[in-house]
Amino acid sequence: MELFFLCGLTLFVLFVITSLLAIFSSSRKTNGCCSGASLPPGRTGLPFIGESLEFLSTGRKGHPQKFIYDRMDKYHSRVFKTSILGEPTAVFCGAAGNKFLFSNENKLVTAWWPDSVNKIFPSSLQTSSKEESKKMRKLLPNFLKPEALSRYVGVMDSIAQRHFGAHWERQSQVSVFPLAKNYTFWVASKVFLSIEEPEHVARLSRPFNVLASGIISIPINLPGTPFNRAIKASNIVRRELSTIIRRRKIDLAEKNASPTQDILSHMLLTCDENGKYMDEMDVADKIIGLLIGGHDTASAAITFVVKYLAELPEIYQKVLKEQMEIAKSKAPGEFLNWEDIQKMKYSWNVACEVMRLAPPLQGAFREALNEFTYAGFAIPKGWKLYWSANSTHTNPECFPEPEKFDPSRFEGNGPAPYMYVPFGGGPRMCPGKEYARLEILVFMHNITKRYKWEKLLPQENIIVDPMPMPAKGLPVRLFPHTTTA
Ligand code: HEM
Repeated sequence: MELFFLCGLTLFVLFVITSLLAIFSSSRKTNGCCSGASLPPGRTGLPFIGESLEFLSTGRKGHPQKFIYDRMDKYHSRVFKTSILGEPTAVFCGAAGNKFLFSNENKLVTAWWPDSVNKIFPSSLQTSSKEESKKMRKLLPNFLKPEALSRYVGVMDSIAQRHFGAHWERQSQVSVFPLAKNYTFWVASKVFLSIEEPEHVARLSRPFNVLASGIISIPINLPGTPFNRAIKASNIVRRELSTIIRRRKIDLAEKNASPTQDILSHMLLTCDENGKYMDEMDVADKIIGLLIGGHDTASAAITFVVKYLAELPEIYQKVLKEQMEIAKSKAPGEFLNWEDIQKMKYSWNVACEVMRLAPPLQGAFREALNEFTYAGFAIPKGWKLYWSANSTHTNPECFPEPEKFDPSRFEGNGPAPYMYVPFGGGPRMCPGKEYARLEILVFMHNITKRYKWEKLLPQENIIVDPMPMPAKGLPVRLFPHTTTA
């Protein structure tokens, strides 16, 4: 009881101190502007809390775009001010806002992540010194570019087949979201680390899931808080990864492991332009960063593909036709390859349309490096800037009849630049885009060639927190095809 009281008191004192600091710093940040231009119109809401509650609650009700569109209508269609996560923030809207933020990276703006992320990753790509982060940005695309990934297609397919064998076969109904997470984690364990045995994968995924769920949380490090659990979990994952990394170094030196077998080998053997290799802790954090960046995003995308295919039988039929043609061209036991992926054009247009309507990441933050003017308004140094996929994806000016599911939007040249941004844009564009494309398509191949399915909860709510997910995990009834390829 006394311990409980002590914890409560400490929390209260911390809350008061943080609020006072936040009020002080936000009034300092929101008032001062030296250019003479006025700040963007908008509302900063209550001290410290700002408009965070409205921002989060529109997402939890499944309509994150409402927060953006209401304010675009009320204040300004190009930029408005708000305060989210205790920070004065300018929300940049529309294709012009995306273009401005994406093309001014490291000139006027730089990446910014909430405090909780910084503290969990002392040396990660998001938070290490800016130089460290830039170096990593240069290296990452090498591990994740199409040529490097092309040889992983068969590996992804083999994991997908094992996943379907273990979790879907002999089931008449399944919950899609947890299974999509199982699949993406299993694929990542194999492609990043050559780990494929389910027990070993589970040993990593258990602490990893605790880490992932506490990464965007109030950064109070007291026993029992999600943040505290995330820090402990990150230490467990790091220890496990350190063991794997040390073992791999020995195996590479003794030629018992191949330099191209997975992303870990690539990372250990790639040096920067000064000939410097990453140290063990750095490699571990980079791997965790990739797992975090790629796990929930890709599983959300896969879950929504399954949801839309259940709701749109004519689209399902076209995907099925494309995938069955590929399935029929394969010899028994032959895995998918890079050429097969290139044939999945319609399926990828479907996945793109799914990510237009349900972007896995709603947007991301930047920080103003110096004061500058945008759309005639002053943006003070240090302000946080937010771009939002929703300000273009469901905007009729960018996508006519935005509520209509129409994969043909992606035919030919596809949408105009800066309108379709599920993977962001500019120098910080998602380095895992191509990897995500492969794993989503491999999953679409494996599910459609085996099943047709229907939703068990036709009106299941969608929650966006911070990724979109069906409130009950998307339970579906499965109808296996009579003959599977
Ligand atoms: C459908 C799946 C995915 C979506 C929608 C997605 C979306 C995004 C977006 C929008 C950003 C940019 C955020 C910004 O502007 O600051 C980003 C960054 C990032 N993504 Fe992805 N991502 C996906 C899959 C992946 C995968 C599979 C990986 C890893 C293999 C990955 C690794 C990363 C990393 C490391 C960053 C940070 C880059 C940086 O800070 O410069 N993502 N992702």
